[in-house]
Amino acid sequence: MGSSSKSPSLACVVLAAGLGTRMKSGIPKVMHKVYERPLIQHVLDTVGRLKPDITVVVTGVKNSPMRKAIAPSGKIAFAAQRQQKGTAHALTTAMARLRSFKGTVLVVNGDTPLLVADTLKKFLRLHRTNRNSLSLISFDAEDPGAYGRILRDPEGKPLRIVENLDASAGERAIREVNSGVYAFERPALSLLKEIKLNRKKGEYYLTDVVELASVKGLSSGVYLLGDEKEFLGVNTREELSQAHEVLRKRTLKEWINRGVSFVDTSSVHIEPAVTIGGDTLIYPNVYLQGSTKIGRACTVYPNVRIIDSVIKDGSEIKDTTLIEGSTVGPEASVGPFAHLRPGSRIGRSSKIGNFVEVKASTIGKGTKAMHLTYIGDADVGSDVNIGAGTITCNYDGMKKHRTKIESGVFVGSDTQLVAPVRVGRKAYIGAGTTVTRDVPPGHLAVSRAPQKNIKKKRKRKR
Ligand code: UD1
Ligand code: CA
Repeated sequence: MGSSSKSPSLACVVLAAGLGTRMKSGIPKVMHKVYERPLIQHVLDTVGRLKPDITVVVTGVKNSPMRKAIAPSGKIAFAAQRQQKGTAHALTTAMARLRSFKGTVLVVNGDTPLLVADTLKKFLRLHRTNRNSLSLISFDAEDPGAYGRILRDPEGKPLRIVENLDASAGERAIREVNSGVYAFERPALSLLKEIKLNRKKGEYYLTDVVELASVKGLSSGVYLLGDEKEFLGVNTREELSQAHEVLRKRTLKEWINRGVSFVDTSSVHIEPAVTIGGDTLIYPNVYLQGSTKIGRACTVYPNVRIIDSVIKDGSEIKDTTLIEGSTVGPEASVGPFAHLRPGSRIGRSSKIGNFVEVKASTIGKGTKAMHLTYIGDADVGSDVNIGAGTITCNYDGMKKHRTKIESGVFVGSDTQLVAPVRVGRKAYIGAGTTVTRDVPPGHLAVSRAPQKNIKKKRKRKR
């Protein structure tokens, strides 16, 4: 322990070298994504909240893709386990990185993405206040399946853990199982070298440390903590989708508690990094992805997908709209059936309506493009009215060019703006015009052929 003002020192070890044969996959198990992040990233984020002095990740030998994919929170080290000789061997491998470390070593499995930091904190407090050499978290499993069973003596003291494969029928019926979360002090760590090979599986089981501690009379504790859902170990793809669903629901619940409303939670997907302001209402079948930020008092109607975008306060995103890498609002409205492609900035109180596509364009305050329009590579000022069927012709087959439409312009329906071109302030463009030259401020531009009304000739008889 350090000085009294400093919290006791803590190292975390994440076991992640297993082959994951049950996933039937070419990629390491812990790199499978659940809720948009690799399994192991969820675990690292959670243990990161405990502010450990260091986290050691035990990986297989070919670990450079994993090292690159992981975003560490705090100091992180990797230990390569050459052969997957079991969980005890994996922890021994990690200890090579912790030779001079004296504090508590928290061990978790890399395949348990649902772990909750508060439960781990509670666990560490129990471990420390009871001055245990070894502690672990157990839980009551609805179906104990492949988990290790906890065997206790009549007084409830932990005796040993028996793995499913080695368990008798009677032992298999035990529902209290090992979560794979352990806390070790030095004396218990020194038992690792005494663990014998399990011949059935050809592995060294970390779970055997419980029996060794009990035989040696080390103080140990097995704590029934948390909810079964926190400890799901993902070994199969079925468990992967179970974990996804738990994370999805957990995230929705958090947003509900922070003042967001959902019409139907069963079909809404909100990725982990997304934020949503209070009093926002979200309809069914909405996907909020990447770094999206939704402001306060917004409404997101059904069938909307928003990726890496900012929707400012009081905006409305109407039905069946796709928004990518863009900014909307405040108080703006987009959709129904609109597509904002990357680099679009829709200003305050602007309206982008039915079947309108916007790309890499700025749309000023109060501007309206309500129907059947393509605005690409354009800078549109404020209070512009863009008529139905307007198209910026931004591509000449070789290069993209910009269109500038200054504030207060009226663009009549069915206009083509052939870029590069500029339409000056308060100019007026007649319907059906093809604008190929700049329009000075305040001018009217019309390019259509004058209408001729030709009297119909009487039909000749054949
Ligand atoms: C393990 C426990 C079991 C517990 C369960 C909780 C053992 C023997 N059993 O079983 O009691 O109920 O977790 O989920 O520990 N790993 C390595 N190197 C290896 C082998 C495994 O790093 O050589 C890693 C895996 O990547 C995985 C973790 O250790 O993240 C657990 O291994 P796994 O094979 O999934 O163990 P389980 O059979 O689930
Ligand atoms: Ca597992």
